[in-house]
Amino acid sequence: MRSPRPARLAAVALLLAALAAAVGAPAAAAASRDGYGRTRRLRMRGKVVEMFYHAYDNYMAYAFPHDELKPLTKGFTDSLSELGNLNLEHLPQDYNGSALTLVESLSSLVVLGNLTEFDRGVSWLSENLTFDVDARVNLFECNIRLLGGLISAHILAKDYSSQNKDGVYQNQLLRLAENLGSRFLPAFETPTGLPYAWINLKYGVMENETTETSTSGCGSLILEMGALSRLTGDPRYEAAALRALRKLWSMRSSLNLVGSTLDVLSGNWIEYSSGIGAGTTSYASPLGVSLIPTSNL
Ligand SMILES: *[C@@H]1O[C@H](CO)[C@@H](O)[C@H](O)[C@H]1NC(C)=O
Ligand SMILES: *[C@@H]1O[C@H](CO)[C@@H](O)[C@H](O)[C@H]1NC(C)=O
Ligand SMILES: *[C@@H]1O[C@H](CO)[C@@H](O)[C@H](O)[C@H]1NC(C)=O
Ligand SMILES: *[C@@H]1O[C@H](CO)[C@@H](O)[C@H](O)[C@H]1NC(C)=O
Repeated sequence: MRSPRPARLAAVALLLAALAAAVGAPAAAAASRDGYGRTRRLRMRGKVVEMFYHAYDNYMAYAFPHDELKPLTKGFTDSLSELGNLNLEHLPQDYNGSALTLVESLSSLVVLGNLTEFDRGVSWLSENLTFDVDARVNLFECNIRLLGGLISAHILAKDYSSQNKDGVYQNQLLRLAENLGSRFLPAFETPTGLPYAWINLKYGVMENETTETSTSGCGSLILEMGALSRLTGDPRYEAAALRALRKLWSMRSSLNLVGSTLDVLSGNWIEYSSGIGAGTTSYASPLGVSLIPTSNL
């Protein structure tokens, strides 16, 4: 746990910004050799910007503040509770979305230099987003998309606060992230510390909830929840995620491999096979466990 998480999140945005800036730099010899000359790169940059606004503007026009746009029908779907929910079970009766696509677009707006629109999004979310909703969501999906989106947008908002319309950014996105993170914590209240895969944002873990979860669901929460702790000073999020990660690591085989699915109450593997496919890929990915020195676990 040596390197600070916020820096890593911001680094992704900086990398994208650097790539965008590089396009404007004089064409390097290597770049011309492989056919990516200045003209072509500028045209491709324009295409990326065009595609972003095509998606973003139509989401804002037809779907916002619902979660996602259905592009063929110009309808919307409140998909937060559908993510990872292949059988579409326990769908909420009264949930109108969390503006999920807006949350996920904020960092792109900054990378594209649209601080006016970024600021508009931040203001809307600050005033209107609430997680006090009777919706059962997948902890893993909600963590990477909503919590991660809010945290990275918060870090960007801190950096660009002087350019915000109101002058000062008051950490509203961090308060939202904290509110969301506190709703995650009941999922970790198991004998093993391994979290339930599903949580109702308003009521916590539901009665008769499945105790089966995936390796990623236990082992890849540390980036966002660690960042939340470092930013708020409240150690509970990082502690919960790290305890789950350590428990998972303790369950590895003699080959240092982990299985695919497990039971959060008993801490026993359900599916023993190991791989890098669905349910394990995030655990095995660079932003997951491989960046955390095992000596620190
Ligand atoms: C969702 O939208 C419907 C229709 O506008 C409204 O009646 C309902 O109160 C909303 N539910 C919530 C939780 O905001
Ligand atoms: C920012 O985005 C909004 C919404 O798409 C658009 O109307 C505006 O022109 C954009 N501003 C810049 C500077 O690109
Ligand atoms: C919050 O939502 C209301 C109702 O849609 C809207 O009128 C208001 O402008 C929103 N707040 C912000 C800051 O955008
Ligand atoms: C939970 O399971 C028990 C035993 O099968 C059952 O009696 C009860 O109705 C279930 N509760 C819910 C909310 O489904």
